[in-house]
Amino acid sequence: MSSMTDQQLESRIQELEAQLSQLQQQLVQAQRLSSVGALASSITHEFNNILTTVINYSKMGLRHKDVATREKAFNKILTAGQRASKITTGMLSYSRGKGERREPHDLVNLVEDVLVLVEKDLQMHRVKLQTDFLDHPFAEVNASQIQQVLMNLIINARQAMDGGGRLFITVRSNEESGMGEIAIRDTGQGIPADKLPKIFAPFFSTKTADEQGQGGTGLGLALCRDIIEAHKGRIRVESAVGHGTTFTLKFPRVEKPSATNPANSSMQKAG
Ligand SMILES: Nc1ncnc2c1ncn2[C@@H]1O[C@H](COP(=O)(O)OP(=O)(O)OP(=O)(O)O)[C@@H](O)[C@H]1O
Ligand SMILES: [Mg+2]
Repeated sequence: MSSMTDQQLESRIQELEAQLSQLQQQLVQAQRLSSVGALASSITHEFNNILTTVINYSKMGLRHKDVATREKAFNKILTAGQRASKITTGMLSYSRGKGERREPHDLVNLVEDVLVLVEKDLQMHRVKLQTDFLDHPFAEVNASQIQQVLMNLIINARQAMDGGGRLFITVRSNEESGMGEIAIRDTGQGIPADKLPKIFAPFFSTKTADEQGQGGTGLGLALCRDIIEAHKGRIRVESAVGHGTTFTLKFPRVEKPSATNPANSSMQKAG
């Protein structure tokens, strides 16, 4: 076997590093799409409901000629259409992802954008959602990556509550540490103490894939940890078997950008 010169070796290493970083990005994107897959059934359901509303109120408007009834029908159709558009817009922007750029974001906004996509899924699995937004801390983050983390944690929580339960999402500021925090607490089965140290390891899973082949790759939390660490944040877990689990995300807070700062306004950027 011919040996490589130092220079050849160096360029080979660079090549491999570039390949590795590309594969990592592909993995994050693939995992993002797999979480979209987990929501396919609830979103189809919701669209069915929206279409039912649109069809029924259109019929009503055609049948009744009086202005008041028609106005009511149009309003229902409009609201249904707006709801549908909110979901498709959210879904498209979530699946696409948006590069590596970090900008100051209100943590509450990030949570709300994810909730639009998962609300119906929670409802279908008899999970009652309670949100507590005690503050609006800003952090310098890549919005789509943090949304992916939130999505993974919420889907895990729902999967831990077979037969229903409660999901609490809290956003607050910790004045002492200067961190903005998002806590996601479920009343699910909990995680046994011997499994707790393993849950962030890639491919650790206690789940089996469902009929659609969804779930159970064990990559969700591994990616959550990578993403949070890349943001100089923290991810913590507390769990009690039979009672539930809490995941807490902590991000270094930044100043809320002033209204004139174009960094946080997509409108100004587009213009
Ligand atoms: N909220 C939770 N309640 C109970 N157990 C949990 C919770 N979140 C994670 N776990 C445990 O941690 C394991 C790893 O979670 P992770 O999200 O990495 O993988 P997964 O959900 O099994 O598979 P994937 O996310 O790839 O579909 C889970 O299999 C489960 O045992
Ligand atoms: Mg998971």
